[in-house]
Amino acid sequence: MILITGGAGYIGSHVNKLLNNKGYNTLVVDNLCESKESSVKWGKLVKCDLEDREGLEDIFNTYDISAVMHFAAFTSVSESVKCPEKYMHNNYENTVNLLNVMQEYDVNKFIFSSTAAVYGTPESIPIKESHPLKPINPYGESKVHVEKELEKRSEDYGLHYVSLRYFNASGDDPDCEIGEQHNPETHLIPLILDAAIGKRDNITIFGTDYPTPDGTCIRDYVHVEDLAQAHLLAYEYLEDGGCSDVFNLGHGTGFSVKQVIEECMSVTGIKFEVEVGERRAGDPSILVADSSKIREKLGWRPVNSSLTNIVNTAWRWHLKLNFKNHHYFND
Ligand code: UFG
Repeated sequence: MILITGGAGYIGSHVNKLLNNKGYNTLVVDNLCESKESSVKWGKLVKCDLEDREGLEDIFNTYDISAVMHFAAFTSVSESVKCPEKYMHNNYENTVNLLNVMQEYDVNKFIFSSTAAVYGTPESIPIKESHPLKPINPYGESKVHVEKELEKRSEDYGLHYVSLRYFNASGDDPDCEIGEQHNPETHLIPLILDAAIGKRDNITIFGTDYPTPDGTCIRDYVHVEDLAQAHLLAYEYLEDGGCSDVFNLGHGTGFSVKQVIEECMSVTGIKFEVEVGERRAGDPSILVADSSKIREKLGWRPVNSSLTNIVNTAWRWHLKLNFKNHHYFND
């Protein structure tokens, strides 16, 4: 059985769906603090906080767990700047707690949700895994701490891990069974779509004075289905005896905030108001992955990650979430 922490959340629930579709048994462990029970449509759910060592020991005692995929974490760059301790506690200390229980129960396969935020302001683009780790926000720092812990445990007692450094996870399940649902929402695409449906008055661009062609930040958007596929490949790689390793997980193409807004206007057919605001603390100007390592070593291909497909699937999910009776879902 594969244990998925944070499996009720955005990325975890897509991975849970894929694994079950491929015939794997999964156990979702989630404290449901930022997600809903209804997102766990496959496998089994146990409500538990990763801070709760006894609760975790109970789980490892009860279920036959062969590997852990660890998604549970706080993920907002802006919140991490305001509340750094919250990020260090949940993202790092609670991960150590989980790793300690895994060690106690001899479970030694671990797939970790890391982030492009570990690199900080890139010294070169596209970013390779060998780029120095110099995070510029506490969110990225908390993930660097975990990566160092994994390296140490791999040397100390043979933990086998794969760390996947996500670039900008986006898009949603094409069947609209699950999807992105943060509260409060801070991510660009769902916020733009909120502006498109009139749930907010406008979308604010956080800074137009970055050293990029149109002055707005550039990010590498990768579809959540492609992210999910990478987890399956990483699991199979570890099962086949692959060595611990770290991989970038991005499409390899960058889009500016203005380009994403234009794509959303084109897909939705709606013109909404766009404002220019101040820069947001903790934002590097450009993050684009060199993903050749995961393509070569795990055979991963980002087949769903065109910006149009990302926005299309996000738009369908957004309509379902906000207008349950929309005609898309009554056809
Ligand atoms: N942005 C706006 N206006 C908004 C919201 C966002 O202009 O209302 C901009 C941000 O400043 C940034 C870009 O849109 O330049 C993307 O912002 P997101 O908040 O959607 O995503 P981030 O790039 O901040 O962070 C995401 C994940 C992180 C991960 C990072 C890696 O949330 O966990 O991608 O690339 F570390």
